[in-house]
Amino acid sequence: MTHHADGEVLDEYLVSARSLAEYRAMFHLSDEDLTGRKILDCPGGAASFAAEASALGAEVTAIDPIYAAAPEELAARATPETERAVAWAHKHAERYRWDWYGGTAEHAAIRRGAAARFADDVRTTPHRYLAGALPSLPCPDDAFDLALSSHLLFSYADRLDADFHLAALVELSRVSTVEARVYPLLDYTGAPLDDLVDHLRTELHDKGIETSLCRTGYEFHHGADTMLTLHAAA
Ligand SMILES: C[S@@+](CC[C@H](N)C(=O)[O-])C[C@H]1O[C@@H](n2cnc3c(N)ncnc32)[C@H](O)[C@@H]1O
Repeated sequence: MTHHADGEVLDEYLVSARSLAEYRAMFHLSDEDLTGRKILDCPGGAASFAAEASALGAEVTAIDPIYAAAPEELAARATPETERAVAWAHKHAERYRWDWYGGTAEHAAIRRGAAARFADDVRTTPHRYLAGALPSLPCPDDAFDLALSSHLLFSYADRLDADFHLAALVELSRVSTVEARVYPLLDYTGAPLDDLVDHLRTELHDKGIETSLCRTGYEFHHGADTMLTLHAAA
């Protein structure tokens, strides 16, 4: 693919830092979903979900290829990466709805807070953060109750093709006993990917994995109000 120098294409994955509040909203997470559950967060990025949900009693493992780096390096990178992600969103402010946050300043404050929490947690509890990458996770079958995947699949459909998406979704299903939840279903420019979503749902159905679409209470990119759920076999 062509990477433009004008800042319109993200050359590298953003390592973003969403908070538990954002994960709760994106993934419709209830207290019951969190308490005492084994949860996978992949990609974990610099999100504070693992730290915050663990404090509430969930047993969270975050997986991301960046976790091959030392905890000190991950902690040091969290702030500049968050500033890159915040700058990207603010530069393209018209693509987003800001009402959930209250405004751009509040959005930046939430992300900076999440990055700081991640940096602290990765230093003090490094065992929660496992190096690995979709579509082949370093986990046995059924290792988790719930798998969450935010802002990799669909978001980066410019470089991840349909076969990658299918293999990654099958993998998330393999490691979760109850559900895998994926959000958003748009790419990072906010373009809808309905054909890709339909194709993947058909392929998953043919493999015996049932899926559903569910409205979320969260919409950052305009129109990003839907979560894909993969259900465990009955
Ligand atoms: C935009 S961040 C999302 C982080 C977090 N889920 C959030 O919403 O804040 C995307 C992450 O995907 C990671 N990533 C890239 N390729 C991956 C792969 N094949 N498997 C898992 N994670 C990957 C990147 O390292 C980056 O941290």
